[in-house]
Amino acid sequence: MSWKLPLFKIYWDDDDLVNVDESIKSGMNWAVGAQVSEFEDLIAQSIEAKYAVTFNSGTSALHSLLLAHGIGKGDEVIVPSFTFISTANSPLFVGAKPVFADIEDETMGLDPDSVLEKINQNTRAILPVHYGGCPCHIRELKEIAEDHDLILIEDAAEAQGAKIKDKYVGTFGDSAILSFCQNKIITTGEGGAVVTDSQEIYEKLHLIRSHGRLETTNYFTSYEPFDYIDIGYNFRMSNITSALGIAQIKKLDKIVEMRRKNAEYLNKKLDNIKQIQTLNAPEDYFHVYQLYSVIAENRDDLMSHLAGAGIMSKVYFDPVHLTQFYRGLGYEENLPVTERVSQEIVTLPMFPTLQKSEMDLIVDEIRKFYG
Ligand SMILES: Cc1ncc(COP(=O)(O)O)c(C=O)c1O
Repeated sequence: MSWKLPLFKIYWDDDDLVNVDESIKSGMNWAVGAQVSEFEDLIAQSIEAKYAVTFNSGTSALHSLLLAHGIGKGDEVIVPSFTFISTANSPLFVGAKPVFADIEDETMGLDPDSVLEKINQNTRAILPVHYGGCPCHIRELKEIAEDHDLILIEDAAEAQGAKIKDKYVGTFGDSAILSFCQNKIITTGEGGAVVTDSQEIYEKLHLIRSHGRLETTNYFTSYEPFDYIDIGYNFRMSNITSALGIAQIKKLDKIVEMRRKNAEYLNKKLDNIKQIQTLNAPEDYFHVYQLYSVIAENRDDLMSHLAGAGIMSKVYFDPVHLTQFYRGLGYEENLPVTERVSQEIVTLPMFPTLQKSEMDLIVDEIRKFYG
């Protein structure tokens, strides 16, 4: 479907073209090359973590990260149901069990009280999500993880650049993932990364990402023999993709600023419509608005009205535990906040180049709908 106003547009410029062009024209190293580690250095620097390891998606980053932490059969991982499905699937990838906890409706992240209720002797990790670019109550979750000796892995797929006070999301836990899929804060089309301060996790991830191969130099340009010391995958991000990532990450601060400015404008306008409740991050929480979501009365009819006006909106997220797949696995959860929020929430268009006239159009159509 072609929309007058899509949910997102990618922010790109000539630097993206130049980097990809140069990479292609080199005629070498399209898979593995110097741009991969250059992009990783920039990712680590941008959120003040020690290490970053790129992957070909946020999902493969999550899968690898659970393997690297040694999570597997018999282990339980506490996850939200109010998330993209790969958060919940990642424990299943490694033979562990996802256990759903409820969210709170301030940040839409895992509710620390609900997490506490789900902890038992099999719990190994907590895997919270920073929903739509808003930091979740990660400091409280960190305390719980420490008290119960649990691994804390942040799913920061949607929240690159978000922070609480001066500390970046992705650096509170033992490790975190980012996604560079096309609707994220910066994008390489598809792509992801792990960030961590742990050298051990960093080294394991290198093996998991590339066939369990012990690499001290570029496999493709070295004639030396290589040994394989573990089972691994090909989850590598290509060098061409990393070249694009380098140009993208240099725009990170600008992109975040533009998104925040647009969100501020929309918040101001929508706060005058009583049937709409905007989501305001707690004090000291720096929201990057990968998604611009609101709670709306009569949500489904509003979405149809907006679609009729050529404005795309979408439900992020329907609960994972209610999908056919998870119901088929036997999940029958009692997650009242998750279920209520997912009935009422709607994500509206948000991207850096969103114009005031376009935001006015969204607001006018919402006003028209409610009369
Ligand atoms: C919360 C969350 N986790 C994980 C992912 C997976 O990332 P990717 O699409 O790059 O595999 C996404 C992306 O949609 C996401 O929103």
